[in-house]
Amino acid sequence: TDIPPVKDVVDEFPVGAAVGPAQLIGNHAQLLRRHFNSVTAGNAMKWDATQPTEGTFRFTDADRIVAFAQANGMEVRGHTLVWHQQTPDWVFKDAAGNDMTATPANKALLLSRLEDHIRGVAGHYAGDISAWDVVNEVIDENQSDGMRRSRWFEITGLDYIRTAFRVARQVDPTAKLYINDYNTNVPSKRDKLYNLVAQLKAEGVPVDGVGHQMHVNIDWPSISETEAMLTKFVPLGVDQQITEMDISIYTNNSESFPTPPRDRLLKQAYRYRDLFDLYRRYASEITSVTLWGLADDDTWLDTFPVTRNDAPLLFDERLQAKPAYWGVVDPSKIE
Ligand code: G3I
Repeated sequence: TDIPPVKDVVDEFPVGAAVGPAQLIGNHAQLLRRHFNSVTAGNAMKWDATQPTEGTFRFTDADRIVAFAQANGMEVRGHTLVWHQQTPDWVFKDAAGNDMTATPANKALLLSRLEDHIRGVAGHYAGDISAWDVVNEVIDENQSDGMRRSRWFEITGLDYIRTAFRVARQVDPTAKLYINDYNTNVPSKRDKLYNLVAQLKAEGVPVDGVGHQMHVNIDWPSISETEAMLTKFVPLGVDQQITEMDISIYTNNSESFPTPPRDRLLKQAYRYRDLFDLYRRYASEITSVTLWGLADDDTWLDTFPVTRNDAPLLFDERLQAKPAYWGVVDPSKIE
């Protein structure tokens, strides 16, 4: 079947999908190649995957993803160098093997591990990555200073962020360096993120862009709130990317359908239409849009926030185009 490639219809910016090794073979690989011109490793570049024990780097899965992308002329987004999840326990152990407390010695040790990790991973892929999510999900809008109380923050304050960006710039000067977060459409969170980026830029920390994850659902957020999210960052002169988009068919934690109801899939299609229309209107700000998965057979939303069958992407479990696909490609064909 000769449906138009998403990447040809949406030509204002690269359109990507988050993938793992399973998406690089067979029908999945064909679909990925046909419709997308950017990829992100869903898990393979994270700390637990790339440096599971201290000093031992493992790049098997991530190398396959990068090789696939290069063989098919696709960009690679790097995800992610620093996060509070999927980071091995050894990172936060002190010299005696106990959980780190906030001492100057532990801060120095943690920052040197951070630097080694970024040299190892961003160094390995230097020249191959269009944008790195240097730090992921560092904002907590319920803190008055806006900073998530992760181990990173508790032990180093803001220095882990400053170090991460400076080292990443040094080892891979061609990658755009991003700060990535979810719920950036929520005004209180968006404003805290804005303040942090403004401060970092004023200090000369090399932040190039803001990544909006955009894990949303068929009712939330509104298009105008999403537009306000984009306009907010324009005065900072940073690039923006949509980094992890999906549209859940669920609007609360107690719903569960064995198969996605038709009315929800249609609602989802119109949401995809409206959000892509918005992104395309902001093409001077937005330098790529990535979906958090290739097709509904493999989505993190099948197990989060509860286990149930979700259908948040453009292609269904049999890799067929959904109404959501037509929402992006040709809304007159939504049915
Ligand atoms: O690889 C192991 C496998 O060996 C094991 O048998 C299996 C049993 O649980 O787990 C597998 O690991 C899972 C891993 O995904 C790979 O599939 C982990 O349990 C699971 O927790 C992990 O989930 C990932 C999640 O990040 C972790 O927080 C999702 O795949 C990934 O899509 C998701 O991505 C995040 C972004 O990085 C940041 N923003 C939010 C986004 C969604 O949570």
